[in-house]
This record gives sequence, C-alpha cells and structure tokens, in this order.
Amino acid sequence: MQMLASALLAAAMAAHAVVASPIQARSPYAVKETHFAPREWTKLDRANGRKLVQLQIGLKQGNMDGLLEHLSEVSDPDHARYGAHLSADEVDDMVRPAKETCDQVEDWLREAGVGDVSYNTAKDWITVHLPIDFVEKLLDTEYHNYKHEDGSIVSRTTHWSLPRHLHEHIDVIQPTTSFFRGAANAATYVKTLDKVHDEVASLSFANGQYEPSDVSKVCNVSSVTPECFQTLYKTKGYKTRASDKNSVGFTNYLEEVPIRPDTELFLKKYRPEAVSSAKTFKTYSINGGPLNDGPLTPQELEDDKSHEANLDVQAIAGISWKTPIVSYSTGGRPPFIPDLTVVENDSEPYLVWVNWLLQQRSIPKIISTSYGEPEQTVPRSYAERVCKQFAAVGARGTTMFFSSGDRGLGGTDKCYTNDGKNTYKFLPAFPASCPYVTTVGATKNFEPEESAYRAGRNLSDGYHDLYSSGSGFSDYFKQPTWQKDAVPHYVKSIGDLYKGLYNPRGRGYPDLAAQGLYFAYFWNGTEGTISGTSASTPLTAGIFALVNDALIASGKPTLGYLNPWLYKKGYKGLTDITIGFSYGCNVQGFPVTKGWDPITGFGTPIFPELVKLAGGHIGY
Ligand SMILES: *[C@@H]1O[C@H](CO)[C@@H](O)[C@H](O)[C@H]1NC(C)=O
Ligand SMILES: *[C@@H]1O[C@H](CO)[C@@H](O)[C@H](O)[C@H]1NC(C)=O
Ligand SMILES: *[C@@H]1O[C@H](CO)[C@@H](O)[C@H](O)[C@H]1NC(C)=O
Ligand SMILES: *[C@@H]1O[C@H](CO)[C@@H](O)[C@H](O)[C@H]1NC(C)=O
Repeated sequence: MQMLASALLAAAMAAHAVVASPIQARSPYAVKETHFAPREWTKLDRANGRKLVQLQIGLKQGNMDGLLEHLSEVSDPDHARYGAHLSADEVDDMVRPAKETCDQVEDWLREAGVGDVSYNTAKDWITVHLPIDFVEKLLDTEYHNYKHEDGSIVSRTTHWSLPRHLHEHIDVIQPTTSFFRGAANAATYVKTLDKVHDEVASLSFANGQYEPSDVSKVCNVSSVTPECFQTLYKTKGYKTRASDKNSVGFTNYLEEVPIRPDTELFLKKYRPEAVSSAKTFKTYSINGGPLNDGPLTPQELEDDKSHEANLDVQAIAGISWKTPIVSYSTGGRPPFIPDLTVVENDSEPYLVWVNWLLQQRSIPKIISTSYGEPEQTVPRSYAERVCKQFAAVGARGTTMFFSSGDRGLGGTDKCYTNDGKNTYKFLPAFPASCPYVTTVGATKNFEPEESAYRAGRNLSDGYHDLYSSGSGFSDYFKQPTWQKDAVPHYVKSIGDLYKGLYNPRGRGYPDLAAQGLYFAYFWNGTEGTISGTSASTPLTAGIFALVNDALIASGKPTLGYLNPWLYKKGYKGLTDITIGFSYGCNVQGFPVTKGWDPITGFGTPIFPELVKLAGGHIGY
C-alpha cells in the first residue's frame, strides 16, 4: 500500500513536471462536452491544482450495438434465445474497443507525459491518477470548487476538450462535468428515526371489511414487517431450493455500511430462522469503502451513518432467506494520498462500482441500489455510458433494481432546468431513467395498496420532508420498444395534463412497485421505522431473488434484464395499483391509473404468479 502510494505520487509529480507548457497534440483541441452546473451548486474558487483525481476515461466500445442486440434477444420471452445469458469473458470480448482506439488514446496520454495507464479487463476504461493542474492541460479546461446546498464540495468543470482526432475514440471522461452525488433514497435518510405521521397511521385498511383478512392480521401500517410482506406478496411458506447457486446483492455509497448486530436483532425479532444470515452476508470494500463487522462505531454514530445500509440488508434478509446476500460498499475517494494535504471526495463512485463489478467473473443474479440523483445533474454522455455498463451487467443474466426516488416529480420548489434558463419543469431521476435497469416505486396501505405519499412539513432546519414515490419520463433516454404499448397508452389517457413539463417520448418509470412506508428496522440497537423507495427496492430484489431460486430449481435460466419480459408477460404477475398521485414540483402530479402508470408501474409482486409466468415451479 505504502509503495503503491509513493509510486503513484512519484508518477504524478513526474507528470506534473512535464506539463510546464501546454500539451502538443496531433490535432487541435475542440470542445468535447459542456454541461451546466446544477442550481444546487455554487461555484467557488479555482480547484487546488495539486489535488489528485482518479480520472476515468471511457473508450468507445467495440461492439456495443451487438451487445445490445444480443441483450434484446435473450431478454425477449418470445425469442428462441431467451435466457441465453453471456459469460463475463463474452461480454468483455464484445465491448473491447478497436485496437486503433486504444493505440490513439495511449499515444496521446504518453505524449502528454502520463506514465502508466491501467485498463479494466474489457479494456474499455482507462484509469489514471493525476493532479488537477495536469488534467486541466490534458483536457484544456479549468476546474473550480463547487459547493452543494448540503455543504459538500467537489472540484468540477463545465466543459472540457480533446484533440479532434480523439473525439470518435473517447465517449466520456470523469470526473469533469458530472455533479452526481448519488443521494440515498430513504425519505428520512438525514433524520434519525422516522416518526409516524398520525394522518397516515389512521388510514390503514381502507376496505372496511368486517372479517379480518390474512393481510390485515399481519400488516400494521405504522410498522410493516417481513411477515406482512410474506403474506401480502405471497412468498410465505416458500422454501428455497437453489441457495447454493443463487445470491442477491446490494450497493452502498456515502460511507454507508450494513451493521451486523442490528441485522441480527432485526432477524431475531422478525425472521428468526434467518438469523444466521446476519453473520454470513458477504461484504466487499471497493475503492476504500467502509467495512464494519461490529456495532456502529462512535464516528459512524456521530455522522448518523448506515440507516440506508441497515434498511437494505434487513429488507432483503427478511424476505429472501436462504438466498446468500452480498453487500458492496464503494468509497467515494481513492484510498490513498498519504501526504498531499488535500481532501479528496471526487471520484465517481457509480462508475467505480459498476466497472469493478464487471471485472468480477461471478456476480449475483439480482442487485439492488437505492441511490439516485436528478438526471440533469449528470451530462448525457455520462448517463448514457453508465447505462450501457448496466446493460452489460444485464447481458450476464443479472437484474438491476433501482429506486425511483422519494421526491415525486422532483421535490418541492426545486423543479427548474439546469440549462441556464431556469425553466420550471419536472425533474426525472438517474439511474432510475436508464432503460437497462428495473425501477421500483413505493406503495403504502393495504387492501388496496396505493402509491406512497406523505405530505411534507417544514422542519426546523429548513428541510421540507415531502415524501412521494419517484415518478417521471427521461429527458435523455427515449422510450424503449418494450414500452411502446404501455407508456403511450398512459400518456394519451392524461391528455394535455402537464404538457410541456415532461418528455412524453422518454423512458417512463418506475416499472413496478412495492411497500415503502414505515418499515420496521433496527439501527444502533434500537427499533424504529424508515420509509422510502429505498425500502421498496431491496424488498423487491429479495422477492425476485426467490423467483430466481424457483427458476434455478426448475432448471430454467435466471431472469436477467427484466424489463422486456415484465412488459410482455411479467406484468400479469403484479397487482395493479390504481389509487394515488405522483405529487412533487408543487402540483398534485400524474394520477395512478389502471394498467401501467409512472408512479407504481404495473404494480406490486404476486410471487407465485411471477414464478409461473417465468416458467418455473414453486415446489409446493
Ligand atoms: C469529504 O467527505 C467527508 C466524509 O463524508 C466529509 O466529512 C468532508 O466534509 C468532505 N469534504 C469535502 C471537501 O466535501
Ligand atoms: C402497530 O405498530 C405500532 C408501532 O409499532 C404499534 O404502536 C401498534 O400497537 C401496532 N398496532 C397493532 C394493531 O398491532
Ligand atoms: C413551508 O415554507 C414555505 C416557504 O418557506 C411556505 O411557502 C409553505 O407554506 C410552508 N408550508 C407549510 C406546510 O407550512
Ligand atoms: C446509540 O446507542 C447507545 C447505546 O444504547 C446510546 O447510548 C446512544 O445514545 C445511541 N445513539 C443514538 C444516536 O441513538
């Protein structure tokens, strides 16, 4: 470690020395990308030029079109090749750039004085550690510090350039113009314990039945538990049969880490037969992400960490037992820099994680992520490239679930464009808007369920805690063919409502939904409740891990990239949700309707139906 650090530092300093004069390239520089800083960020002074960044250069991939075509075949249930997922090596071979691309980019870097470049296994990403003043010359730009409303500071630029001859060989370079932070989608993430609002607690069981149903016996709207989910979504009694060949993963960012003793307390109370999984779930630290096998440390307590990570692991473990669980904690900064006196929070953790994942030869068949940001905080090139990386994960037979967000159409008083014009409009979220992920919205109440919504309050610290299940239509990604019936049908049904405030031709989300209000969970040894699409997403991931279990036990391939199947067939295995609105952006928002809608998608899981529709057998 020490050696690596000093070697890197030496390389950086050497590089530093070389660039006293501007870089001479084979062709003149031209702007490759410009992107406005989002309005939540204030531009400060010039960035510290000595600060090291982990620059990630995304090369144009060799046969991405071929990969996407393959993916659309193997995820279409009517295609002969349905379920023929690719191996890690096969994916690498397809995305590997042309030799000319690697040569051109390497020549440019070498001539600029960059020493060693390191590639990932597919060779479609180069990572180099360089001081900012070097990067400024390399990309003919200037970095400034930008401060977010929440106080965090990053070094970014709003435009960067490349020699003209490289424009066709490089898709994206970050960190440059991406203001992505990946906020957690737990509605109460920054608060400690979620206080139940009275007006919601009194709404349970709107059906007014006299005879208590099975659901009403086990579901309490002020504290929902695994027993409720098992009954509501009908996984109760299912015994896993393929846990040796299956697993379910979830991701952590922002120094979040799942706490084992809290998980143990939770499972002891709510899923006693699963209690051993609190000790056995696997953890990976990526890029210096935290690991913690004990209770919350004093520092973690002080920073109010791991509400999200605890929720994720508990929601999954409560439903998916005995499926093995895998936790990925990705650090937001390179794990070194011993003696440069700089704070370094500046890498792009999403890219770091997905590129790390694609290097692994064996990965879970389901991965849940409860983080996201407004789509406009990232440049289109970044969103497109990260979305393609998710497609590559899908091609390996893994389903990626992402939460739709907790601010409805985009929050309160925040719905303005980022293009310098400050136009009022709805703000879709990324990665929820990526067509290669399956996006999960939230519901509340029972018999019937409705979309999750809780009116906002003005809290003492100025925070407005509106909670409404995330909803929207992408401005970057066009409607995929598998949405060609469901989404235009919805758009037509609402007529001119909110015309001009959203992109009716964009990828609509979410795709499906699950409970997301007042989950029972443990944190710091104490029971509380927590809400959000952050809860719905790991719960859904856990249920689909059981679907995969049944498929594997039935000799069938795992679901993989889910959406084409979901929109063609799988939706029949969901309970349609028809009550609610999306709220946010100071309007009531899109209505929840019969069939697909952009608040609850096609609805909530009915486990045995999903298994049947996917061609598996339950076994009881
Ligand atoms: C970097 O992250 C740490 C930990 O989250 C935080 O305490 C610190 O304030 C951040 N620094 C900057 C410059 O944003
Ligand atoms: C529902 O949960 C709340 C919070 O845990 C609890 O106070 C209440 O007694 C529960 N109600 C029922 C009917 O169990
Ligand atoms: C919250 O504060 C905003 C502005 O500060 C005000 O317009 C709004 O009416 C307040 N809402 C409530 C529910 O008090
Ligand atoms: C965490 O738990 C300890 C021990 O029970 C307690 O003293 C402390 O107040 C708790 N901290 C928070 C922030 O809840």
